[in-house]
Amino acid sequence: MSDHIDQLFEFLRFPSVSTASEHAGDVRSCAEFLVKKLDSMGLNSQLHETAGHPIVSARNEHKEGRPTVMIYGHYDVQPVDPIELWESPPFEPEIRDGIIWGRGATDNKGQMFAHVLGVEKLLKEEGELPVNLIFVFEGEEEIGSTHLGPFLEANKEEFACDVIAVSDTGMVAEGVPTMGYGLRGIIAAEITVKGPRADLHSGVYGGAVANAATAVAQLVASLHDKEGVIQVEGFYDNVKPLEQWERDMWAEIPGMSDADLLEVSGSSAPFGEKGYSNAERLWARPTAEINGIWGGYQGEGSKTVLPAEAFAKITCRLVPNQEPHEILEKLKAHLEKHCPEGVSVEVEDGHGGKPYFADPHSRYGKAAQAALKSAFGDEPVLIREGGSIPIIQDFKEILGVDTLLLGLALPDCRIHAPNENFPVANFEAGIRLSGELLKQIASV
Ligand code: BES
Ligand code: MN
Repeated sequence: MSDHIDQLFEFLRFPSVSTASEHAGDVRSCAEFLVKKLDSMGLNSQLHETAGHPIVSARNEHKEGRPTVMIYGHYDVQPVDPIELWESPPFEPEIRDGIIWGRGATDNKGQMFAHVLGVEKLLKEEGELPVNLIFVFEGEEEIGSTHLGPFLEANKEEFACDVIAVSDTGMVAEGVPTMGYGLRGIIAAEITVKGPRADLHSGVYGGAVANAATAVAQLVASLHDKEGVIQVEGFYDNVKPLEQWERDMWAEIPGMSDADLLEVSGSSAPFGEKGYSNAERLWARPTAEINGIWGGYQGEGSKTVLPAEAFAKITCRLVPNQEPHEILEKLKAHLEKHCPEGVSVEVEDGHGGKPYFADPHSRYGKAAQAALKSAFGDEPVLIREGGSIPIIQDFKEILGVDTLLLGLALPDCRIHAPNENFPVANFEAGIRLSGELLKQIASV
């Protein structure tokens, strides 16, 4: 195990922050590290150039009559700020109390590297793999996977497969093996509200000229009613209603009570749409979230100003069968319609991604559940995820195959935040899981 940890630490030490151009060289070095590692395992690996960060692929010798399994992961990470809140430096991984601390420990280097080591272990034990394997690791997941879709589209034959496995999601609670069969989609927008030509004295003009900051607050407030139900016209039109089997199944899942949610979030009261459980609110209902709002004076003390401009960043999480571009159009129409008099609103589109849903009881779904049971020693729970991995639905549309979401993250792994961490036990379980998964898939 200590050799496994050493190798993971080497991988974690690359500051492969995909969004920061000053780290482009580190992202590349990280990809090169992977190529070397995969080559050393006897796989045929390649670094594929893109207009952005490289894609790394690797495969064993493919043979007739065996299923082809693609294992996907991402080696890029989120920025580390606010750096001062880290208890140990983000790119100097260490273990404290059986937990690995560092940026990427969970999202996604620790989870994806468990598969690399699981495959290596199986190769050592059995001499060969029971399946045709394709590893695909990208360096742009955290910035929208811009180049992976077109790359696969251009190389469809080479990446044809029967099923895809991904560990880039979560477990509902410690020790509870979890298989995901859905993800929420996403749209992003930034709004700019413009009022008077320039900032004004709030005494001289306040009360007779519209205030851009007040207007942005009114606009943002118009998105929900008091219960949190989204007021954008037609927003829920295509939402696939929850089916009873899912509601019944989710009602039994641990870690989803009000008390659990209040504890993990530090929030003081339950929140959300009436008539839905927490699991349903998080996994099967769409949202509109304000991610940031600003404008006017932000400095120390007070300043009597009537701001000319104000801004907000919004993302909506989408569920089947909402179409990202349709929802964006509806959101824009809502913002135009509710824009207060005396100001104007501009909406700039950001990234987007479709929701994903697959049958958890398919034969590969069952194989994945058997592998989870064997790796963790317990029956897995079946969930949808609240988060988004837009490339998963692209896989379905480009390659025509479903993805098994075998999450290893815990609710308190602090992905995207300071003190990201991954329990050594989950890393070890992931290594066992990967080998088991290939065996189970080979036997269906
Ligand atoms: N691994 C996460 C997604 C995730 C986390 C899914 C936890 C389920 C549970 C992924 O790296 C991520 O952060 N995705 C972004 C996508 C967005 C930027 C397009 C997200 O969900 O915000
Ligand atoms: Mn992420």
